[in-house]
Amino acid sequence: MAKVLVATEKPFAKVAADGIRKIFEEAGYDCVFLEKYTSQDDFIAAATEADAIVIRSDKADKAVIDNGKNLKIIVRAGAGYDNVDLAAATAKNVVVMNTPGQNSNAVAELAMGMMVYQARNQFNGSSGSELLGKTLGIHAYGNVGKNIARIAKGFGMQVMAFDPFVSKETIEADGVQCVESVEELYSKCQYLSVNIPANDKTKKSINYDLLMKMPANATLVNTARKEVICEEGLKKVFAERNDFKYVSDIAPDCASDLTAHAGRFFFTPKKMGAQTSEANINAGLAAARQIIAYLEENDTTFKVN
Ligand code: 3PG
Repeated sequence: MAKVLVATEKPFAKVAADGIRKIFEEAGYDCVFLEKYTSQDDFIAAATEADAIVIRSDKADKAVIDNGKNLKIIVRAGAGYDNVDLAAATAKNVVVMNTPGQNSNAVAELAMGMMVYQARNQFNGSSGSELLGKTLGIHAYGNVGKNIARIAKGFGMQVMAFDPFVSKETIEADGVQCVESVEELYSKCQYLSVNIPANDKTKKSINYDLLMKMPANATLVNTARKEVICEEGLKKVFAERNDFKYVSDIAPDCASDLTAHAGRFFFTPKKMGAQTSEANINAGLAAARQIIAYLEENDTTFKVN
């Protein structure tokens, strides 16, 4: 009987966890949940017998992978797989997959909510501003970016996007203006939504020069990864521009250095973008089905290594 470990430090909604368990049980698999664990050692130990692992932002590092002596597949129930040691997995012939698109509406809705929250001065009672007619730049037009564009157009925002991997035709087909460079995007947009993955090319790429290009009353919205922001640059921008605001689903490491700028930043206490029942069901059930399809039929759709 194949053994599956669902390792979620931040658990799925119960309805999603029940659905995942049901899919595996119907397939005749043994499914174990490790939730809200507080030590990476617990994850490493739980991986020992697993043939397959489902994770969220949990760190599938070399120790987890090496300890999984029967391990064949890891599915990240979500989009970003920067939390998986791909080299270690590939070296052990462990397939790594994600579940692209399954939680992207949830993340997009949070990005819009954070924009409204900041535009209304964090609901402090003073007069804020509206999103109608404002410019919004979408930095990377993937599943989340596309959903943000759809919702932002409903708000009456003027939406632009930059993505070197997506054609101008695809972007423009959504009624979104395609700009030629990242510099152009930041120069033209009062609101800027960061949707790039964290990798060797993108880490620290949102830097001082880029942020200083943003027009007056700029708001940077980050529902991607904290690593893509150059924090030294961010601190400098806060110090030099009293019109600059930063709202993020992940607190930067330098959060405590920003206390002097209260009202101009907001960070969720825990990564909340994908934390909806719907997204948990979509991504969690997709992950379960992908594991079964791989183990039963060698289906490698969504393999990323
Ligand atoms: C993702 O990459 O899918 C999101 O960042 C969601 O991460 P989470 O599953 O840890 O909430």
